[in-house]
Amino acid sequence: MILDALTKNLRKTIIAGNWKMNKTPSEAKALLEEIAPLVKDADCEVVACVPYVDLATAIEATKGTNIKIGAENCHWEESGAYTGEISTGMLKELGVEYVVIGHSERRQYFGETDETVNKRTKAALKAGLKPIVCVGELLWERECNITNEVIARQIKLDLWDVSAEDMMNVTIAYEPVWAIGTGKTATAEQAEEVCAFIRLCLKGLYGLEVAESVTIQYGGSMNDKNAGELLMKTNVDGGLIGGASLVAEKFAAIVDAASRSYEE
Ligand code: PGA
Repeated sequence: MILDALTKNLRKTIIAGNWKMNKTPSEAKALLEEIAPLVKDADCEVVACVPYVDLATAIEATKGTNIKIGAENCHWEESGAYTGEISTGMLKELGVEYVVIGHSERRQYFGETDETVNKRTKAALKAGLKPIVCVGELLWERECNITNEVIARQIKLDLWDVSAEDMMNVTIAYEPVWAIGTGKTATAEQAEEVCAFIRLCLKGLYGLEVAESVTIQYGGSMNDKNAGELLMKTNVDGGLIGGASLVAEKFAAIVDAASRSYEE
């Protein structure tokens, strides 16, 4: 337990907002200007992942603050005939640091597969972006008792051919699909159980040292009320926040809970 606490304290806690398809550039500027003073003393990494068209404004609006900006997806090719897609080089040039990859909404509505998640992850890493790779089981899969199989498969496929060295820049987000945008949060015990299992998978693939240093977030209806309990868990090192990241006070309260989540 003491060892567990020590390793948790060594990992980077990351609270990332996932704005999804919300906020125009001017609305993004206003929200970030509202959030910035509320999170300026955060003892964790604070990230806002915003729509592509908001990125330039968001980067400008957060200059000189501790808020990092992320995109919500990226393509795996450097350029070419991929109408409507955005490359890692385009993101990098803007000053983007993080990128969400394999979110369940992309898997559900836009044909994202573990293979494309893997390609995007490797492209992001190659460009020097920090991917937040999302995994999670459907309700049906949980009910059939195959959560661990689903997660193990996603981890293995999504991270296929990603080196141990590159894993230092990867964050995993555990997002049970049944908890996203539903108001149905996983209990802190359920979140801990799967996040600990993810770490075990990482240990099998990369060894103990890498497994213990990777940040594993929980996501799915995390809010200002339940964040404290979730973030206290040994293997929950942060959150990927949808709905609550669009309300400055709520997002700031989650950042505050994360800043207090280090174990004694
Ligand atoms: P939610 O979304 O917090 O609105 O459930 C989380 C996510 O999809 O990343």
